[in-house]
Formats: sequence, structure tokens, C-alpha cells
Amino acid sequence: MLTGKKILLIISGGIAAYKSLELIRALKKENAHVKCILTHGGSQFITPLSVAALTQEQVYTDLWSLKDETDMGHIRLSREADLIVIAPASANLMAQMAHGLAEDLASTTLLASNRPIMACPAMNPMMWAHQATQDNIETLKSRDLQIIMPDDGDMACGETGTGRMSEPENILKSIIEHFKENKPLAGQKAIVTSGPTYEAIDPVRFIGNRSSGKQGHAIADALAQAGASVTLITGPVAIADPEGVETIHVESAQEMLEACENKLKQNIDMAICAAAVADWRPKALKEHKLKKQDNQDTLTISFTKTPDILQTISNHGERPTLVVGFAAETQDLLAHAKAKREKKGCDWIVANNVGDKAVFGQNENHVHLITAENTQEWAQTTKREIARDLVGRIVEYFETIKK
Ligand code: CTP
Repeated sequence: MLTGKKILLIISGGIAAYKSLELIRALKKENAHVKCILTHGGSQFITPLSVAALTQEQVYTDLWSLKDETDMGHIRLSREADLIVIAPASANLMAQMAHGLAEDLASTTLLASNRPIMACPAMNPMMWAHQATQDNIETLKSRDLQIIMPDDGDMACGETGTGRMSEPENILKSIIEHFKENKPLAGQKAIVTSGPTYEAIDPVRFIGNRSSGKQGHAIADALAQAGASVTLITGPVAIADPEGVETIHVESAQEMLEACENKLKQNIDMAICAAAVADWRPKALKEHKLKKQDNQDTLTISFTKTPDILQTISNHGERPTLVVGFAAETQDLLAHAKAKREKKGCDWIVANNVGDKAVFGQNENHVHLITAENTQEWAQTTKREIARDLVGRIVEYFETIKK
């Protein structure tokens, strides 16, 4: 049953749009709440009236509708769903998504959304096979969109090949699978550090680093999805707080440490330190903006060490059962990372090479997982995938120690 689950169904242009009416009926039978966006293309095949009759909800069609934007702005529409399903997903809509275009209500809602998205492509076989479409599909997959692959067979256009939208009953199965409760870390508490820290020089300047927070935030998200109760302690980043995660925003290493130590009082089971903490902060914070002097060519600032958060947590009286650190290296990756694991006293180290801007700010990474027992190389993949694999290892670890 999908009782209480909120599904936003986007129906784009294609003859398969008639199957989306069947999908709405099946979703309603499962007790889901269904709201629909019907694109201009979609409304060439089915009418807003039939969609409204089946969903018993208003149907959204127009980005520029004053009434809809007052009642239910596209931003709210994009955020309140538990899952967005695009069926059929036309080649055009997928191209818009892949390239970040926001031209109508559907594409704008998708661009503004932070919800999981499932796309069910339907199109002519030549369009499906076209390199442009395949490239767009790869791009969307790398952003974690779930693609329900089209079927083979005779098409409405008279051609035969791959491109027929998957049957509504299969799409429904995938939707039910998506919501299946799989919460192996339920009841476990985690803290995750993420992003850079900024160490103030004067009221307007700081020293920081290039960390985007993508890896740490993805880990917090994956832990929450596995049922853990997660506190994310993050330095300044330009990405959104993950859903369902308590997020504490800090600036300096000292503030990050204090937030972590506060949380350690609550019997934390695991700490994942993915933040790129600044190792040094200016010795003295200038009360006023440093002014440059006429005869001055250089500036010397004295630095003092910041606290080592990972090391403090690893050796804390209230140490979590599992402590995982990261090692950001530009040379001798494994030797440095192994030495860091021992020196800091954490259980595992995720080692990554951060030379040549290959990691900071990027969506992919190539890591090694170093434990006391062994070192494993993981194939290069997205930071989200790495987060899920790491959480998989964490689940295994807690299952083993429970036995
Ligand atoms: N770390 C920390 N507090 C610090 C510095 C680092 O908690 N003041 C943590 C990071 O979050 C990471 C691990 O320690 O999990 C290793 O960080 P890294 O930057 O690779 O190494 P450093 O300890 O800073 O050592 P170095 O700069 O000499 O490589």
C-alpha cells in the first residue's frame, strides 16, 4: 500500500500519456495522493478534465497561472511530493532536465525540486537510440534519477524497437519498491561533519578551502535513508541541507568541534568526519579590517593549530562505536592515509586523491577504504554512490558486532 504517500505525476507529450491515466487509477487504488502536471504536449493526448476526474485534484498546466502560483507555487509543488514520477517522459523533457532548462511548469518544477525522481521514457525507437538521448539518460542517471527503461515492441508510430513506455503495473511495482521500508540503521545515532571551515583573519576575511560538502552531505543523506538519526555539522557550503537530517551550521574548526562534543553527550553510535577542516587559524583575530600600508609589499600572518576534530572524537570518553575519517592527499595516498588512521585513532579512513582539483566540487570521486584489516580500492563513481556503499559497509559492521 502507498497510503499517505504524495506522488507528483508529470505527464509529458506522447501517445503513452493514455497509460498514465491507468497509472493514476492504480496509484489511487494503493491509497496514494496523486497530483498531476500535464504539459502542453501531454494535453494533446489526454485532457486535464480526465486527469482531474481520476486524481480528484486540480491539474497543473501553466507556469504563468496567477491562480496556481498563488494557491500552490511551482516551488511548493516541487517540494511537497514524496516522489516525482514522469510518465511518459518525452525525449524533449529529459533533454530539458539534463541541461537544466526551465521553460514550462514541468521543467521548472523539476529543476526546483529536491525530491527523488523516477522517469519512464516513451518515444520513437530512433529517438530513444539517438546518442543525444542516450547521453541525456546517462547524465540524469549520474544525478540519481531512477529511469524505468522502456520496453521493446511495436510502436504506435508503426515502427518496432525500444521506446514503448513500461506498462503501468511495472511502474507501480517500482514505485512500491521505492517506498519499501529498508531501515537497517533505525535506532542508531550518527554525526557527520562536512564542508570546509572558515578561519577568520579580520571581520571581512577568512582562510578556507575548496571543499563543497557534496561528499559529507551525501553520506548524511544516505545514513538518514538507512534509518539512522543523523546530525550533520557543516561548514559554509552552497548546497541544500539534506531532507530529514538535523543540520547544524558552523563556521570555524572550533565551532565544529564544540557542536560535535555537544552531540557526543547523546550516546552517538557513529561519527563520519568528512569535513575538510582548516588545520590552521590566524593566531590573533583582528578587530578591524586589515588596511594595506603604502609602503607594504607583503603580508605576514601568524597561524596557530586548530583542534583536530577526528582525533578528539576518536579518543573521547564518549567515543562512538565506529569512527570514520577521510584523508585528502595529493601524493603517497595510501601511505599517508594509513598513517593518519593510526595517528588519529579512528577505525576506518576513506582515502582520496585531491590533487588537480579532481575531487573538490566534483560529483565523482575515486576512493580507497582503509580499515585495520585491509585496504579496498573502490571504482570511480559518484559521491552519492560512494556514500551509499559506505553506508552499506557501516550496516554490515553493525550487524557483525551485534552477533
Ligand atoms: N580533521 C579534523 N580536524 C582537523 C583536521 C582534519 O577532524 N583539524 C579530519 C578530517 O575531517 C578528515 C581527517 O581529519 O576526516 C583527515 O583530514 P586531512 O585534511 O586529510 O588531514 P589533516 O589531518 O589535515 O593532515 P594533513 O593536512 O597534514 O594532511
